[in-house]
Amino acid sequence: SLCFTSIEVPERLTVSHEALIKNGLADRCVSVPVREATDADILLVHSEEYLEAVKKTPYMTLEDLKEFTLQYGDVYFHPNIYHCAKLAAGAALQLVDSVMTGKVRNGMALVRPPGHHSMSSAANGFCVFNNVAIAAQYAKQKYGLKRVLIVDWDVHHGQGVQYCFEDDPSVLYFSWHRYEHQKFWPQLRESDYDSVGKEKGAGFNINVPWNKVGMKNSDYLSVFCHVLLPVAYEFCPDLVLVCAGFDSAIGDPEGEMCASPDIFAHLTHLLMNLAGGKLCAVLEGGYNLTSLPQSVCQTVQTLLGDPAPRPANLDGPCESALESLHCVRSAHRQYWSCLKHAGIKGDEEKSQEEQVWPEPPKRVTPPIRAALVLPNGVACPDGCESFGASEDADPVIVNKLRYVAAACNA
Ligand SMILES: *[C@@H]1O[C@H](CO)[C@@H](O)[C@H](O)[C@H]1NC(C)=O
Ligand SMILES: [Zn+2]
Repeated sequence: SLCFTSIEVPERLTVSHEALIKNGLADRCVSVPVREATDADILLVHSEEYLEAVKKTPYMTLEDLKEFTLQYGDVYFHPNIYHCAKLAAGAALQLVDSVMTGKVRNGMALVRPPGHHSMSSAANGFCVFNNVAIAAQYAKQKYGLKRVLIVDWDVHHGQGVQYCFEDDPSVLYFSWHRYEHQKFWPQLRESDYDSVGKEKGAGFNINVPWNKVGMKNSDYLSVFCHVLLPVAYEFCPDLVLVCAGFDSAIGDPEGEMCASPDIFAHLTHLLMNLAGGKLCAVLEGGYNLTSLPQSVCQTVQTLLGDPAPRPANLDGPCESALESLHCVRSAHRQYWSCLKHAGIKGDEEKSQEEQVWPEPPKRVTPPIRAALVLPNGVACPDGCESFGASEDADPVIVNKLRYVAAACNA
């Protein structure tokens, strides 16, 4: 069982935010105001009975709170947690709105409490409302999205997210998690690779169990390259949500894994090619106050568009990771054409007809990445174009600049 009460602490957010400031990343981000999730938002995922029960917690005595808490697994209700949980879910929704309306390209919500263990009618693993599951339903409903990809790189299985979408083919849920053949919390049979989703949702739930601790960068990248990315390209999401838990990084007392914080630069970068770059990362776990802020910074810096660092220590996946990888691929072979063995086609199948193909669609990118205002007499740096203040403004250029001014921090 987890002991979240001693590790899921407010310092997790303060050290992460301080690190973003110290590394000059906070200044490059657009701050999005937070709001409370409404009842209607929360009811997208949770039952009315559960919401009404949580609503009463701010008015309970300590004794009543203890009693209330006992019915759930590994969660502690503080009188203030209902308010915090509404803000956490609301922050995720504000981020979805900002990305879907094009205000920003992508973003990250640094929130507590986390969400991915929480279920329709139950708190669990310090999660009260399922922030990312609510965000996925909200994005589908408000923006009419047909396909949402949820990537859960937290070291725990987000069983709450799985339960929410396991029969829903419009949400593809991918999770890797410490499992150790069901010995690791939450010790569920349904966290294994053969839980692929149900009914119409079969094939849209991907579990990668880690059966050993100490997984490294190579193991993580192998699973991305050989399982997640091929399927994600075939799925072709309209939006990518990340259950961004960093207890899967080195030094974490829960995960006991060995991937370095810079691996999250690569994982983020690889996901930014999907959904036209629309990506919302929402913090889940991460309990080492040294590696957590480093991992957060790696993720945010990549979201800002900086190139990923050279990957270090890529010495190939370990045997246990390879075994998991093969199990997942065969469990999903029947659902995804990218996982089927390509047929061996003979010459006789080669078409003699002239091949035709459409012109590739136009790629829309802002004409200018960043605008720079320089004092008189300062030389224009390489790669920048200079417009003198006294020159007659060309309306075409002014239009472009206005566009840039709105987008340069995004
Ligand atoms: C975080 O990792 C460092 C380095 O391994 C270690 O000294 C420290 O005890 C860890 N902190 C926690 C909370 O596990
Ligand atoms: Zn976790």
